[in-house]
Amino acid sequence: MVYRPLSAPRSASRPASARPAKSAFPHDFVWGAAAAAYQIEGAGKEGGRGPSIWDHFSQTPGNVFEDHNGNVACDHYHRWREDVRWMKRLGLDAYRLSVSWPRILPRGTGRANARGLAFYDRLIDALLEAGIQPWVTLYHWDLPLALQRRGGFQNRDLVEWFGDYAEVVVRRLGDRVRHWMTINEPPVIVGLGMQQGIFAPGQTLSFAHCLKAAHHLLLAHGRAVQAIRATCRLPAKISLAHTGRERIPASRSVKHREAARADTFRCTERNFDNLAWWADPMLLGRYPDDGLKAFAADLPRIRTGDMALISQPVDFLAYNCYSGFPIRAGAGGQPERVPGGWGVGNPRGTLSWLQVAPEAPYWAARFLHERYGLPVVFTENGVCTTDFVHLDGKVHDPQRIDFLSRYLGSIARARREGIPVEGYFYWSILDNFEWAQGYKDRFGLIHVDYATQKRTPKDSFTWYREVIRRRGVGL
Ligand code: FCB
Repeated sequence: MVYRPLSAPRSASRPASARPAKSAFPHDFVWGAAAAAYQIEGAGKEGGRGPSIWDHFSQTPGNVFEDHNGNVACDHYHRWREDVRWMKRLGLDAYRLSVSWPRILPRGTGRANARGLAFYDRLIDALLEAGIQPWVTLYHWDLPLALQRRGGFQNRDLVEWFGDYAEVVVRRLGDRVRHWMTINEPPVIVGLGMQQGIFAPGQTLSFAHCLKAAHHLLLAHGRAVQAIRATCRLPAKISLAHTGRERIPASRSVKHREAARADTFRCTERNFDNLAWWADPMLLGRYPDDGLKAFAADLPRIRTGDMALISQPVDFLAYNCYSGFPIRAGAGGQPERVPGGWGVGNPRGTLSWLQVAPEAPYWAARFLHERYGLPVVFTENGVCTTDFVHLDGKVHDPQRIDFLSRYLGSIARARREGIPVEGYFYWSILDNFEWAQGYKDRFGLIHVDYATQKRTPKDSFTWYREVIRRRGVGL
């Protein structure tokens, strides 16, 4: 691999009369970074917050790497002013945060916690004052524990619980927040949390029960879209943050491309990584036929009106994109994984699933846009590397810079081909609590020393700041 730093703006080396360097990214392209409540806030028992399924799960020994938990995390609940200052220095157009449901409704339903709402109120004001647009996710995995005890996603009442919660949040913040994501990454919620039990709430339910939870999740999304539309005082832009592992055509030939496309939306495996199982109902108003056939024996009851609720119109396609693997057309054109994937030794993040696959965002944007017709925003992308404060007091992370350079180059390619990618959020602004991996894996543009809470911008922070300043020229 060739290290490709951000090249000098072409205009710099050309005579003054030459045309200025052109960016593949329009001026209003949204350059952002993201984080989520449980991963950074800490203050688990402060400000009237109730417990969530992640508190319970991470405080149960054996569930998380070295029994880490989010009790303190990055202490963002107390240090948000400093964190917003860093974001301003970075030059972000937008910051994607999530609101903690148990901070707003400590028992999941009922009376709102004024101190919880006040926290987000102040944060949103500070962001806007810093010239940063808040993009808000309503549910990034921290279900109030009280609701889990009432059946969680198994209980169809969840649809109304979530709708009511959405209304409370949007009533308070909807005079300043325009961009909303209802739910983050359904495959993780149901697949890792309820089928495999490796994330909270740590269940290993039958496939039929998981499908039921999935249906309730989609209904809850639809109900929240209604609540946002009815309550937001600004013209809302809404999505749900999807994710997947991208299928990348093994070569440029049409047959491999069509195999990769078919595999991207194939829905026959008994797991929750089937993107179309989530995205088709929302965006096309129906579950995919192959899934209905393959899962026939386990399907939940779908009531009249369900599909209409699930498919409330949304405005963009939020997508979290990290990795991918090569697909080729096998016998009879059937898609198959290229044996051996990218080959032995292909670069990875410190999380082994994070194989570096720079074409992933290009193919994600292309296949998603071609099927669903919406503009795409990458609401997460990033890499975890072994970052530490070096003897010179700095955090040198050239791998992250190289990763970003490649992935952003791939988004530039999509844009040059006319695919409407409208924004990019780096995951994450800060190192943080990486779920079942605890604090082992570091994704941040800013290094966090968890013992002192000292923030140190990494080299990638400076690099990304330059990307934003140049509005993507040179990528
Ligand atoms: C995504 C999650 C996010 C973070 C990154 C690495 O699946 O949405 O919270 O953990 O992975």
